[in-house]
Amino acid sequence: MSRTRLARATGAAAAALALALTAAACGQNAPGGSKYDGGGNGGTVGISMPTRSSERWIADGENMVRQFEEAGYEANLQYGEDDIPQQITQIENMIAQGVDLLVIAAIDGSALGNVLQQAADANIPVISYDRLLMGSPHVDCYATFDNYQVGQLQGQYLVDALGLEEGGNDSYNIELFAGDPDDNNTRYFFNGAMDVLQPFIDEGQLTVLSGQTRLAQLTTERWDGALAQDRMEDLLTAHYRGRERVDAVLSPYDGISLGIISALESAGYGTESRPLPVITGQDAEISSVRSIIAGKQTQTVYKDTRELAAQAVQMGDALLNGQECEANDTESYDNGEKVVPAYLLEPVSIDASNWELLVEEGYYTEAELRN
Ligand code: GAL
Repeated sequence: MSRTRLARATGAAAAALALALTAAACGQNAPGGSKYDGGGNGGTVGISMPTRSSERWIADGENMVRQFEEAGYEANLQYGEDDIPQQITQIENMIAQGVDLLVIAAIDGSALGNVLQQAADANIPVISYDRLLMGSPHVDCYATFDNYQVGQLQGQYLVDALGLEEGGNDSYNIELFAGDPDDNNTRYFFNGAMDVLQPFIDEGQLTVLSGQTRLAQLTTERWDGALAQDRMEDLLTAHYRGRERVDAVLSPYDGISLGIISALESAGYGTESRPLPVITGQDAEISSVRSIIAGKQTQTVYKDTRELAAQAVQMGDALLNGQECEANDTESYDNGEKVVPAYLLEPVSIDASNWELLVEEGYYTEAELRN
């Protein structure tokens, strides 16, 4: 995201927050009064996002504020900055201010049980946004992308790029990375990818030289690219001395991909004699799309945050009007207490051959991607 876009996003968030605070200060949601008078008039939505350290969540927040406001609501947007107690306090404050609806993308999906109970006690419906809220019955609906399919797109991309389905005796070295262990999406992404990759590992067409193939060995706390960079450096030092080279890396998220690429470049990859491996990603963040255009990162998965925000607005509207959320999956997302009705959007694989789609769809301007 360019500086101006970021400034706009932060500005919009600040404006929305100011608006929401003014509304709360005016006693609009005072106990005893009608909290919500229907038709999108006068309701306030508390939007709790995990962090601003990644472009995508800034875009998610910005899109939701805009779209909820267009639908006649006020929005109170807060970022937990990957600090779980901070996210809990922010949600508690929203409940105390009398918001009418909560939309939450959790830092740790299992850490919000108490605060979700408080929301239920105050009759505030809750939408789980992108990441599933775990271990609580007080989650009304779930707006997300098809997370298993995201993993499949990543795994299939690696298979196609290496030509594994064409057979032959070539064997390639791959290393595997996964996301935050506290994020339920992590295992969906990983399982989707491994269901595609495992047969090739079993057949010996893919080799994980480090031997690290279990999810617990591969996770990256808080999706932190710097941690992934450290792990890749360790893997290179321990297993890729001499003539062995890494041919492919399964990376679940753009920020992690960029960390991995830095480690590889420091170790001498990225030259004609030692090209970078095929490396996946997710979110189509600007820095990664630029990296794809520059021939470094190979692939990413585009998940249009405008569509996800629109889904959350539609669900919120339904809940606040006493209706059920629209769902297209009522089986997959069991949070341990209930199967949460979900609406899964479709992710799209992006590489050097089709990144222009992001410009055609107005997701980015060409200048943002080329500069
Ligand atoms: C996941 C999300 C991914 C990526 C990651 C890191 O929950 O589904 O798209 O954004 O978090 O932020």
